[in-house]
Amino acid sequence: MAKVRQSRFLAKKRLTITLVLSILVMLTVVLLMLLGLGTFSLPMSADDSSSYDLTTYRRMASKRGKGSGSRGEHWAEVISWEPRVFLYHNFLSKEECEYLIKIAKPHMRKSSVVDSKTGKSKDSRVRTSSGMFLRRGQDKIISDIEKRIAEYSFMPVEHGEGLQVLHYEVGQKYDPHFDYFLDTFNIRKGGQRMATMLMYLTDVEEGGETIFPAAKGNVSDVPWWDELSECGKKGLAVKPKMGNALLFWSMKPDATVDPSSLHGLQSIPLPTFLFTCSRMIVSLLIVQE
Ligand SMILES: *[C@@H]1O[C@H](CO)[C@@H](O)[C@H](O)[C@H]1NC(C)=O
Repeated sequence: MAKVRQSRFLAKKRLTITLVLSILVMLTVVLLMLLGLGTFSLPMSADDSSSYDLTTYRRMASKRGKGSGSRGEHWAEVISWEPRVFLYHNFLSKEECEYLIKIAKPHMRKSSVVDSKTGKSKDSRVRTSSGMFLRRGQDKIISDIEKRIAEYSFMPVEHGEGLQVLHYEVGQKYDPHFDYFLDTFNIRKGGQRMATMLMYLTDVEEGGETIFPAAKGNVSDVPWWDELSECGKKGLAVKPKMGNALLFWSMKPDATVDPSSLHGLQSIPLPTFLFTCSRMIVSLLIVQE
């Protein structure tokens, strides 16, 4: 008697499981049909597909990284792939540019360069500007800018050297050079320099172009070719414009140094002055001083 009852119970249990399973299958079919008809969509695809393109990402990133003043419309432009150079329009607001100049101006000193043999700083004739280094995360405005550089370069903020503000007057220039270190002293100390974000803090009427003399490709194929100075036409050149930033990579994606990243700054012929601000991004983490 007990056996019959048990088998009946088992049969009932099996029936319930079959029923539940078939209901689940039916629900899945209905859900798939609804998805197919587009009546119903998963939250992932609710966004417009254009939200995956880079310009939209940039726009979102810049909304997040607030900062001082209004930056106007900003967009990115690929200048060259060899070396890898990208131009970000209106990267800094006018207020940020003026602020950087204001805090750096009283402390400007004649620029030195790194000696490739000893790794020490030395005076030089290749770089005739004056400049100063700002402390990393010195204040809110500086750390906002540093965070923005990290977002645009996809490199963590801790990998950046202090911002360096440079001042070029009439006739001053920076001869073509590499940003990466050639000596092991500096590489051991802080890692190899991978990229540089160069920001223009003022406009100049003529000259002052950043030039990449070793860039591959047709250098006259830039839209601003006719506006370049004679010297600026000797390579791939970018005219300085207040608020714009140039990101260029000193290392290739395979982590070897890129000799095509050779770059310099053309002299300024008219009595105007140019302020730039740059941040070097290194391969190793810089320990907070
Ligand atoms: C380089 O680009 C310019 C402007 O687009 C064009 O006139 C010229 O023919 C190009 N030169 C070569 C070698 O492709």
